[in-house]
Amino acid sequence: MSRLTLLGSTGSIGVNTLDVIRQNSHQYQVYALAAGRNVARLAEQIVEFRPKVAVVPDEESRGKLSERLVESGLAQSAWPELLFGPQALVAIATAPDAWIVVSAIVGVAGLEATYEAVRAGKRVGLANKEVLVSGGRLVMDAVRISGAELIPIDSEHNGAHQCLRGGSRPEVTRLILTASGGPFRTTPVEQLAWVTPEDALKHPTWKMGNRITIDSATLMNKGFEVIEACWLFGFTPAQVDVVIHPQSSVHAMIEYSDGSVIAQISATDMRMPIQYALTYPERMQAPVPKIDWSEARRWEFGPPDLAKFPLLKLAYECQEAGGSATCTLNAADEIAVEAFLARRIGFPAIYRIVEQTVSKLAKRQPATINDILEVDRESRSLARELVAKEAAADAGSRVTAKA
Ligand SMILES: NC(=O)c1ccc[n+]([C@@H]2O[C@H](COP(=O)([O-])OP(=O)(O)OC[C@H]3O[C@@H](n4cnc5c(N)ncnc54)[C@H](OP(=O)(O)O)[C@@H]3O)[C@@H](O)[C@H]2O)c1
Repeated sequence: MSRLTLLGSTGSIGVNTLDVIRQNSHQYQVYALAAGRNVARLAEQIVEFRPKVAVVPDEESRGKLSERLVESGLAQSAWPELLFGPQALVAIATAPDAWIVVSAIVGVAGLEATYEAVRAGKRVGLANKEVLVSGGRLVMDAVRISGAELIPIDSEHNGAHQCLRGGSRPEVTRLILTASGGPFRTTPVEQLAWVTPEDALKHPTWKMGNRITIDSATLMNKGFEVIEACWLFGFTPAQVDVVIHPQSSVHAMIEYSDGSVIAQISATDMRMPIQYALTYPERMQAPVPKIDWSEARRWEFGPPDLAKFPLLKLAYECQEAGGSATCTLNAADEIAVEAFLARRIGFPAIYRIVEQTVSKLAKRQPATINDILEVDRESRSLARELVAKEAAADAGSRVTAKA
């Protein structure tokens, strides 16, 4: 039995991970679950998977979780130990009982625990891309020192991981990441000023959490993936291409020195890469329908429109710049996306806020997790100020328009 700690069990990746465990319960067992505010779903997961430990962000959430467990009728003797706060996340990520840690908390809230899991030499199934976007150098240095296995769950990187098994690393010349193009792939650029959060949340091929769905609509997500790929596989930004592939069936391609390209293709279902991260280097039957090759199908590939989606270009520039730039990029984007979802700013303002935050904040070389968290805090604070200005200007222009 392999035991697992799941950070972010109540989210989209978390729920899919538990489905993979459910289908393979003869081989995998849950050691610990960690979640945010959704204590109702966490309680249901505790009743089904019976972890030894459950972690929530604060004492209030722990109280609410206890109430839910009482309501569930689960005998108190079967309850997990209920812990809260960042140190508890680190404890379950580094516990000797956890053989694999799936990192699926959204944002930098998952950074420290993931970093410590790496330092403890665990196998880490990495969904949380913000970990490498914010702290890539530190985390990859820790991988080298501890010998931890960092297996990407992000489908494109998981695809690249599979393609890289087809040849030796010095023969690899290029990584090609595919992008669906998001809901606004064919929307004229001048109409982007009027799109709503509901429009942006309609992802054409994947069902995911809110932040990553908005990031897919701006192509910021693909920019994060370029950065993530550079850290995971040792590419320079110039060696990573992005190709728009609306069908999301080809997840990544690796070009070798003779020009041969190996592609990874599978159903558009996150349970595929999650299961791969658990079973690597072996493969198991997946709980996902296989591609039916007897059906006619057409796949398209084309270049991204960097003028319409400038956040992708900015991500390349930040990775080239190095240091704290990508941490700021992530933090500012999180604030801008939150503001867009709250209807405080329009869709094009997401880019303006992120770009201004990156260009205004002095670059530095974070050497510790605390340094990264400090850059993250400062970047958020500046991005919030810029959101407030943008929102005020927007309200002002509406008053003028009315007059
Ligand atoms: N969804 C996908 O298909 C996909 C694909 C590739 C990569 N990823 C990456 O995987 C990560 C998770 O994505 P998602 O789509 O699963 O997001 P999601 O549905 O929003 O789930 C996020 C999870 O993080 C938890 N969380 C948030 N803040 C927390 C905190 N302070 N402490 C503990 N837990 C906290 C949430 O808990 P509550 O819900 O209980 O608040 C939830 O379990 C992201 O980094 C995303 O970029 C996702």
